[in-house]
Amino acid sequence: IQQLLFRNHNEPPVIFHLFPIIGSTITYGMDPPRFLKENRAKFGDCFTFILLGKKTTVYVGTQGNEFILNGKIRDVCTEEIYTVLTTPVFGKDVVYDCPNSKLMEQKKFMKIALTTEAFRSYVPIISDEVSTYFKKSADFKGKSGTVNICPKMAQITIFTASHTLQGKEIRDKFDESLADLYHDLDMGFSPVNFMLHWAPLPWNNRRDHAQRTVAKIYMDTIKSRRERGAVEANSQDIMYHLMNSTYKNGVKVPDHEIAHMMIALLMAGQHSSSSTSSWIMVRLAARPDIMEELYQEQIKNLGADLPPLTHEDLSKLPLNQAIVKETLRLNAPIHSILRAVKQPMPVPGTKFAIPTSHVLLSAPGISATDPQYFPNPDLWDPHRWEKDAVNAPSLVKDESEEEKIDYGYGMVSKGAASPYLPFGAGRHRCIGEQFANVQLQTIVAMVVREFKFRNVDGSDTVIGTDYTSLFSRPLEPANIYWERRDGA
Ligand code: HEM
Repeated sequence: IQQLLFRNHNEPPVIFHLFPIIGSTITYGMDPPRFLKENRAKFGDCFTFILLGKKTTVYVGTQGNEFILNGKIRDVCTEEIYTVLTTPVFGKDVVYDCPNSKLMEQKKFMKIALTTEAFRSYVPIISDEVSTYFKKSADFKGKSGTVNICPKMAQITIFTASHTLQGKEIRDKFDESLADLYHDLDMGFSPVNFMLHWAPLPWNNRRDHAQRTVAKIYMDTIKSRRERGAVEANSQDIMYHLMNSTYKNGVKVPDHEIAHMMIALLMAGQHSSSSTSSWIMVRLAARPDIMEELYQEQIKNLGADLPPLTHEDLSKLPLNQAIVKETLRLNAPIHSILRAVKQPMPVPGTKFAIPTSHVLLSAPGISATDPQYFPNPDLWDPHRWEKDAVNAPSLVKDESEEEKIDYGYGMVSKGAASPYLPFGAGRHRCIGEQFANVQLQTIVAMVVREFKFRNVDGSDTVIGTDYTSLFSRPLEPANIYWERRDGA
């Protein structure tokens, strides 16, 4: 009653809650998309709920995506929200521990290394890593077996990303100390650290020790590369590009910033890509018929002897591409994107203005599962991405047809009002989209060559989602029955 009586009609409706600090934190945290969809049905696209004591205003749908993700820099701010979490993990002076203009320059430096030429050299490296992994892994010995696929995909992701983006010397260290250190760094990303990032808790102490140690490993590698003058062999990787980058003010990127960006890149990509590849494997186990189609697609388009995979080959495998697209539609790892409000923001077409005391929450996954744009939205149907399919998405434009803008890190689509934005939009848009596509498509193609998957009980059910970490992923154990293809 109090909430109804004292409702401010210039602000979006607030979801009823009994306890002021907890608010809707628990119901949101258990299943964010479900919470958002249920409340969207009651309140419309724009409403407010209490998340960890903070008034959090959601704006979903295509207009909401545009309002938040394309918000002007004077209106919305990202670093204010995320720096408490990311600075202890990545280190000082990078990403959200610096002004936005510096992040835009850093993104540009990192993006320059993500060229088609680089991707060409990455595909054989990723293919090799995947084959070697399955040859060596004790869990894939013999002709068939059952495995919890998530930790396997996490390892394959870190081996392939570190080898391609950071060079072989760093990749080799993941067989030694780096894997454990990254694990400790990861603990800094638990949502509870939004509040307890500063506390002298055991996992925070381990995080701080890991950050210093990992940064030193990178700085030593940079130093030794410089001393050897031997950069040619690594001329495609990001470390090489950063070592040769200069800010607009003439300052060369300092070694500690290179080290911290290397951590940021691996952490940014690791969770998203490994969650996505795990989901793909889970989906394929539920649909062995589609896994078989993928295999046949390679035979048909690349040749029955399945030659070593190249970057060009990936473009000849439309279903292989659609698998990644469709999985990201239903299982985007970043379900909520937060922004601080810097000045009151009127919501076009309503009488609402979002005050600076609120946090904004964008959830592009909601429009990606809206039947208005994606008929039969809960169905995982990679074929819907074929142009004339019955379930084909409407209003998802081809990127190449869209008007572009440069926020300082290269051209990106000007509008953010698309229903399908698994890589975000605007100035904070992902720079790793193409890399992730190359990495994921190569991993899928290689797995399909070696294995047939199915659910352990032979059913087509798909496991639920774990929302306890910042990046959502399949609930574990996500057990899959695997069988080697004849002669594999
Ligand atoms: C930003 C998704 C892989 C590096 C983002 C954002 C999303 C996203 C939604 C926007 C966040 C925001 O607006 O606050 C994904 C998904 C991936 C993926 C779904 C894989 C399937 C990668 C990879 C890299 C990477 C592989 C690095 C090579 C970044 C960076 C940003 C970003 C540097 C910019 C952050 C900012 O400007 O605030 N990503 N990402 N991502 N991503 Fe990715």
